[in-house]
Amino acid sequence: MESQQYRQTLGHFATGVTVVIAELEGSLHGMTANSFTSVSLHPPLILLAIDHKARMKNAMIPNRPLTISILKESQKVLSQLFAQPHPTSDPFDGLRLERARNGIPYLADSLAYLACHITQILPQGDHDVVICQVEEFNILSEDGPLIFYQGHYHHLDGLIP
Ligand SMILES: Cc1cc2nc3c(=O)[nH]c(=O)nc-3n(C[C@H](O)[C@H](O)[C@H](O)COP(=O)(O)O)c2cc1C
Repeated sequence: MESQQYRQTLGHFATGVTVVIAELEGSLHGMTANSFTSVSLHPPLILLAIDHKARMKNAMIPNRPLTISILKESQKVLSQLFAQPHPTSDPFDGLRLERARNGIPYLADSLAYLACHITQILPQGDHDVVICQVEEFNILSEDGPLIFYQGHYHHLDGLIP
């Protein structure tokens, strides 16, 4: 399979952008992810697909807590920051964090957040599909969402009448 064409084809699926935060070896670790998807409403389950090469993979342990912050259109820089494999400084420095009841912080200036526990990890190809049960969630802003489409950041143009 031509992998560049495969990636480009997948890139035609527009998504929102999230920052996943979990504890990794005693410190907080954040990672940009657009694989976030709702799986079930009753019970409330979501999934993330985590690359086996990502450091975040080592934080994906059953029963462990994590948070998912959904980014708003003004937060492209945060998406880029948390997608850096080797950040030169602490990416959480200067960011407003609030602690969810599960003990993990979320980005307080984001669009919305969910706090979860990992229920299942399903290795699939070069990623782990991580299923999480949602225990807490809230909308934090009425700004527009950050959109990722064809490898670039966009904002919503509005309703189609
Ligand atoms: C918009 C966007 C979405 C991404 N989504 C995912 C994702 O869903 N899963 C993933 O494993 N990496 C994803 N990445 C790549 C990771 O954020 C990036 O490789 C990160 O540096 C790896 O995480 P680490 O710091 O834990 O190693 C995405 C990157 C961007 C820019």
